Amino acid sequence: MTEAPDAPGFVTQRGSFRAAHVADQNIERQAFILDQMAGRPAVRTLKSWALDQLKPKAGETAVDVGSGTGEDVVAFAAAGAHAIGVEPSPGLRAEAVRRTAGADVEYVEGQAESLPFNDESVDVLRCERVLQHVDDPAAVVKEMTRVLRPGGRIALIDTDWATAIVHPADPGVLQRMVDHFIHESANPYSGRRLRGLLAGAGLMITGETAATMIEPQEGARQGLVGMLHLTSLQAGVITEAEAEEFARTLAEAADRGAFHMSLTMYAVSAVKPRAA
Ligand SMILES: C[S@@+](CC[C@H](N)C(=O)[O-])C[C@H]1O[C@@H](n2cnc3c(N)ncnc32)[C@H](O)[C@@H]1O
Repeated sequence: MTEAPDAPGFVTQRGSFRAAHVADQNIERQAFILDQMAGRPAVRTLKSWALDQLKPKAGETAVDVGSGTGEDVVAFAAAGAHAIGVEPSPGLRAEAVRRTAGADVEYVEGQAESLPFNDESVDVLRCERVLQHVDDPAAVVKEMTRVLRPGGRIALIDTDWATAIVHPADPGVLQRMVDHFIHESANPYSGRRLRGLLAGAGLMITGETAATMIEPQEGARQGLVGMLHLTSLQAGVITEAEAEEFARTLAEAADRGAFHMSLTMYAVSAVKPRAA
């Protein structure tokens, strides 16, 4: 089993993917988490669904907002588009540059709240698992709409943390952990809001789908469960004894092949109407 790199910056700072927290980030840990997620079939399904909806073409400008390690920027470039990743974290930008050397891609510093593009200059835009980290997702989607050309395509992907299931665990303890996680998140119910955000910005919805991520058995000891466990313990919403019991119960279940954790993610695509 691969262990997550030790990362106090990640586990003590719930909002470590937030743009405001770039100074506290542990890039090795973040890249590890992003790689784990990128390997999950549900995430692969949604990435591929979004690319299919967006259909970037040669000569088009295609932007990934919150581009992380750069995988989706490379996919845009492979389709022949002028591919640009917007990423506020210098460490993740450097990691993306390192990983995607040789690909015809560009990474720019920027935030979803204020995109570094002129009005109506972008043909294709995607944004995956970023809106959950922003304080004003409606303003962000409006900003994305500003930079899209009329006829331009957009796809948003995000998690809805109310769909998280962890089993087996003491229901009261688990509830406190999930409640804390949701309370600390900027936009924990992002998944269910994607459609309304796009429609509210005047865009025409072209598709929507969802996929449920199921953690493998080793997920009982790391990844999302580890994050939930440690943030709850450090915030004092569970006691040391409850944390130990939670970890022990899940590890024992995983040894029997009986651990379950799942989380549903949603994706919605839209087009910016051409002026009548
Ligand atoms: C969970 S990661 C997802 C990365 C990538 N989209 C993927 O699918 O692997 C969230 C990303 O959003 C970036 N991010 C956080 N706040 C942002 C903001 N306000 N504007 C743009 N990107 C942001 C983070 O630095 C990180 O790269």
